[in-house]
Amino acid sequence: MTDVVGFIHSKGGVGKSTLTVFVALALRNSGVIVRVLDADPQASTHRWAETAAKDGDRLPVDVIPTPSPQAVRDAVSAARADEIEIVLIDTPPGTPAVLDEVVKLVNLALIPTAASPMDIDRVWPTLDLLADVPTAVVLNALDARETAASIAKNTLEDVGVSVADTTVPMRASVRRAFGTNPPVPAVYRELASEIKEAVS
Ligand SMILES: Nc1ncnc2c1ncn2[C@@H]1O[C@H](COP(=O)(O)OP(=O)(O)OP(=O)(O)O)[C@@H](O)[C@H]1O
Ligand SMILES: [Mg+2]
Repeated sequence: MTDVVGFIHSKGGVGKSTLTVFVALALRNSGVIVRVLDADPQASTHRWAETAAKDGDRLPVDVIPTPSPQAVRDAVSAARADEIEIVLIDTPPGTPAVLDEVVKLVNLALIPTAASPMDIDRVWPTLDLLADVPTAVVLNALDARETAASIAKNTLEDVGVSVADTTVPMRASVRRAFGTNPPVPAVYRELASEIKEAVS
């Protein structure tokens, strides 16, 4: 059984690619057979893996570029055939055709967002896009002094939107991690556990 989890937000720069890589590494470290699909034509996640490999610091997870709807469909079929346990899909911002395909394939969608009221207000169009897909918001890149997180959680949960218990802090080491095989902070292990539980 292959579970398919997408990191999705129509807004750019919310942390989709970074979360995809760190959650993939955390899942891998906990023994899950995981594969990443990079459905973003910008290919940040694929470039991350390629850069790490070129520098002799290969990620222990395969990252497959899948920039078209057909490529995503084929790669998910291949992952099922290869008995991959969890496929993580990094997606582009906006609402391109590839995203419609990802929405059809995922059994869990994670929406990363900062926690300010304006950021939370920008989550609604993505929730509309996800319609009936099981979804959780992940509060990401939070300032250490952030007080908005609990307000954001209440605002979302009051209208029936799930929010991951794990909130991800802003960290300089995470910002610098592109192109490396980084150590995985505990918070991503916690998020990976929540994801495993949500899809089981
Ligand atoms: N927890 C974090 N702490 C610090 N910086 C972070 C964190 N998460 C993400 N970032 C940084 O935020 C920026 C945007 O992250 P990322 O590229 O992952 O977002 P994205 O949603 O994939 O963007 P796009 O929509 O353009 O693909 C990057 O510079 C990344 O290093
Ligand atoms: Mg990205």
